[in-house]
Amino acid sequence: MSASLKAAVIGGGSMGRNHARVFADMDDVALVGVADVSEASLSFFQQRYHVNTYTDYHEMLQREKPDLVSVVVPTEMHFVVARDVIAAGVPVLVEKPIAATLNEGADLIHLAAKHKVMLTVGHIERFNPAIRALKRCLDAGELGQVYQISRAGSAPSPAGSKMSAW
Ligand SMILES: NC(=O)c1ccc[n+]([C@@H]2O[C@H](COP(=O)([O-])OP(=O)(O)OC[C@H]3O[C@@H](n4cnc5c(N)ncnc54)[C@H](O)[C@@H]3O)[C@@H](O)[C@H]2O)c1
Repeated sequence: MSASLKAAVIGGGSMGRNHARVFADMDDVALVGVADVSEASLSFFQQRYHVNTYTDYHEMLQREKPDLVSVVVPTEMHFVVARDVIAAGVPVLVEKPIAATLNEGADLIHLAAKHKVMLTVGHIERFNPAIRALKRCLDAGELGQVYQISRAGSAPSPAGSKMSAW
């Protein structure tokens, strides 16, 4: 099938590589550009995908005219970058969390509505079948009472807030 949608990625760090890989693997999508302030990050995408790369995402938006953009920069940058993509009229997927503050998140939602641009957030794990099954087990009390959650390489945190937010 020929590519019908042009996708671009802003932020080529560890998660940005995943977004680029998925876009590049999709039959009906063409990865047309990756932007990152780091030349070192961009060289990976040049070699792996032979894609146009940019240190200035504004230039990428102008030149590539993507149909959709993933914003995968550090969270503190989500608002500014997503705002600019929305202002350019391009549908945007922002990695989670939507922004660094509630006000910034609300402003993005408002801006997207104003510009009639689709805004989505990458709550990937919410749709992970393994995580959903775990949540069902927890809710059903099948795992007893959770008193601590930890993962390799991080300090244990008190149970509750995160899982109950799902
Ligand atoms: N959905 C998930 O499960 C999940 C998992 C991990 C991270 N994330 C989110 O993804 C985002 C990125 O995380 P990461 O781990 O890939 O970070 P990272 O630090 O590995 O990558 C961020 C990249 O953005 C680039 N960057 C910074 N400012 C930029 C700008 N103005 N323009 C273009 N590029 C810029 C940096 O050079 C870097 O390469 C974070 O918001 C994080 O919360 C989501």
